[in-house]
Amino acid sequence: MDDASADLLPTSAIPGPKRLSIVGGIWEQVKFDRDPVRYMYGLRAQYGDLTRFQNRLGTMLLAIGPEYNRQLHQETDLFHSRPFVLPGGKHTSQHRLRQSIFSLNEAEHKRMRHQLLPVFQRSMMDLHQHSIRKHVENSVSTWQPGQARNLHRDMHLMVWNVVRDLLYGLDDGTATEALHEGMEHWMLQTFSPWVRAFPVNLPFTPYNRMMQDANRLERKFLDLMRKRRAQGVEGNDALAALLRFKTSDGKEVPVELLVGHALILFLVAYETTGNTLTWTLFLLSQFPQAQQDVLDELQALGPNPSYDKLEQAPMLARVLKESTRLLPAVPYSRRLASRDGAFGRYQIPKKTRVIFSHYMTHHLPEIYSNPERFDPARWETIKPSPSEFMPFGSGVRTCLGSSLAQCVIKLAIAHILPRWKINVVPHTQVDRHMGISLGPRNGIPVVISRQDRDLHKSPITGNIRDMVEIDHPEPAKRTRIAA
Ligand code: HEM
Repeated sequence: MDDASADLLPTSAIPGPKRLSIVGGIWEQVKFDRDPVRYMYGLRAQYGDLTRFQNRLGTMLLAIGPEYNRQLHQETDLFHSRPFVLPGGKHTSQHRLRQSIFSLNEAEHKRMRHQLLPVFQRSMMDLHQHSIRKHVENSVSTWQPGQARNLHRDMHLMVWNVVRDLLYGLDDGTATEALHEGMEHWMLQTFSPWVRAFPVNLPFTPYNRMMQDANRLERKFLDLMRKRRAQGVEGNDALAALLRFKTSDGKEVPVELLVGHALILFLVAYETTGNTLTWTLFLLSQFPQAQQDVLDELQALGPNPSYDKLEQAPMLARVLKESTRLLPAVPYSRRLASRDGAFGRYQIPKKTRVIFSHYMTHHLPEIYSNPERFDPARWETIKPSPSEFMPFGSGVRTCLGSSLAQCVIKLAIAHILPRWKINVVPHTQVDRHMGISLGPRNGIPVVISRQDRDLHKSPITGNIRDMVEIDHPEPAKRTRIAA
């Protein structure tokens, strides 16, 4: 042991709940999967910024705060990314579908990132903006004043179409509708806490249904990848870039080894962007002054502003920062220690699993005063570090799609808001739901009308009010436990 590590405390000294039986571990997993935000608050309130806890997978650490974030983002030889935790044993479709850029580390990760980078660079947005605008226009072209709509569903479908078209080069049509349905269905099963808690493959169980969904989805993706390869893999979309990927000795990679990459990239792209766009429009509808300010700014830019202009618009930028601070679509990420090493004051063994939280960091009062307040103006004076504000991650694993996501969200807001007033149906219960990313549990029912700038927020209930301060005649039932 060297001098530095001699001062380190053993992992067993990290505070946390008592060891649990297998059933206890499964129950903790169900609680975490159902509501990770609540779970993380509970642990932190009881045990502090670094906690050791147990679930079905074994012992985990929950690390909260900029110093841990910095170490986890920067020491990439020690802290490896972990693949998505999708239930399903080896040699199954589920196993193959979880192999993605998130499961690669070090040299392999670098090569894959390098392969995909050109698809996502900022300059591509100048090419894409016209198609994105067309998809936004199509998605709201059937809206009628006075109509009730599910904002979440509409925004999700819109982003799905953008991703299908720009990243996968797929045309509109029944085949892609079936693909969308297949992905949604599979995702619902895969992220169901009960499926994850009881991974038993018996006929008619939810787990069995998920495995069958996974088989079908894998076949669909393999089919479209084979067709694309046969047509030639030129093009600047993500699927073409994936299919051009070569082994380190220059050989073509079989589609069977790329199928998870193709699926997960598609999922993260539309899930996270769809949820962020929904949350941002929801917040603007609940905070009329911020909406008035954005409308003033858009009016000054003139009709159909280019993305260049929107990117420079300060109020829109502040609103998006504040929305992704308060309601980050990725509320936590995971790492795995690749060897024994030091983490903060502790010596941790190889294979230690660590969770760190974008959400918890963004709600720390020592970084953001009145953290639950939606206050876009705070961005005029603060400049948090990459370990304090990380809606798109940080370091070598910074989100590849952040330019695309911001371009879609800004173009959508710039088209929708000046035309449509969005009011949440009064007394809606807005609860969070964690699937592949953080979104509203049962969508967001809204009523739309022509934009007349006579803006009013709606009274709403639900655990959204733990995450965002929203005035309401009834006091909020807070699940947040003061740290
Ligand atoms: C508002 C929307 C989005 C949010 C909030 C978001 C958030 C994130 C975060 C927090 C990470 C880092 C995860 C970690 O450190 O483990 C990440 C990584 C990533 N994101 Fe996004 N993302 C969004 C949109 C997109 C889009 C549109 C794509 C396009 C395909 C995308 C592709 C990726 C990829 C490939 C990575 C992994 C990068 C790597 O490991 O090198 N994301 N994203």
